[in-house]
Amino acid sequence: MLKLHQVSKRFGGLSVLQDVSFEVPAGSVFGLIGPNGAGKTTVFNLITGLLAPSGGAIELDGRSLVGVKPHQITRQGLGRTFQNIRIFKEMSLLENVVVGMHAHLDYGVPALLFSLPGFRAQERQSRERAHELLSWVGLEHKAADIADNLSYGEQRKLELARALATKPRLLLLDEPVAGMNSGEKVELMAQIQQIAKRGYTIFMIEHDMRFVMGLCERIAVLNFGRIIAEGTPDEIKNNPDVIEAYLGREDDEEPLSAEADA
Ligand SMILES: Nc1ncnc2c1ncn2[C@@H]1O[C@H](COP(=O)(O)OP(=O)(O)OP(=O)(O)O)[C@@H](O)[C@H]1O
Ligand SMILES: [Mg+2]
Repeated sequence: MLKLHQVSKRFGGLSVLQDVSFEVPAGSVFGLIGPNGAGKTTVFNLITGLLAPSGGAIELDGRSLVGVKPHQITRQGLGRTFQNIRIFKEMSLLENVVVGMHAHLDYGVPALLFSLPGFRAQERQSRERAHELLSWVGLEHKAADIADNLSYGEQRKLELARALATKPRLLLLDEPVAGMNSGEKVELMAQIQQIAKRGYTIFMIEHDMRFVMGLCERIAVLNFGRIIAEGTPDEIKNNPDVIEAYLGREDDEEPLSAEADA
């Protein structure tokens, strides 16, 4: 569904990605892992059109995404969440999700101005859909609450619901469990499994090894801007290059063990 072929990215003289190639199959849950600063978020920014690649090809269902504007890429069925949460804190949860849908509401300006029946019907439908999406992440009971009152983990879940509101076929999640407590992680794992069962293709960046290994069918590993391994969770866990990439660093990166659940 998503294909990267020999993608590179330079910032000035700094080469951040080199020769990055991998494919995310339709209907799969796919993971991208790697130490801090490896270039993972940059990969998402290239896919979603926030940055332009310095070289290589990026395709969604065989159509090139290079040079396509971010909002057009969203319309082609690509949704994402951000490593640094981006929600409207002063708005209710329901409003946050409804805003995510607006790229897809096709009423015109006159209908908006005069509140014509077509507009009101569509508005009602989008509120119903927003309630449904909030229920997928276990937040429907808080639909009317102000987003700022949510815990950090709940804000991440709200961002997921908002990303779903853009009607993505492919959903990119940048560190979905960062800042969540273990209870929230367990809930989110089940919720993402349900979302995948509904037919969404999911591509996540994640540092929490138990989470990423438990959810993903395949995982690619990025180290210093290069893909050093790609395979099933078991293949990745036992790959000597991957173990070296994680153990060979002096920062406080999580180890590749099932116990890693800080
Ligand atoms: N817009 C930018 N301009 C210049 N350098 C950038 C830019 N975006 C990212 N970088 C650099 O590219 C490298 C990769 O950053 P990136 O955010 O992709 O890493 P990451 O793998 O997502 O790390 P983390 O796990 O900490 O989120 C870093 O050295 C970063 O400083
Ligand atoms: Mg990142």
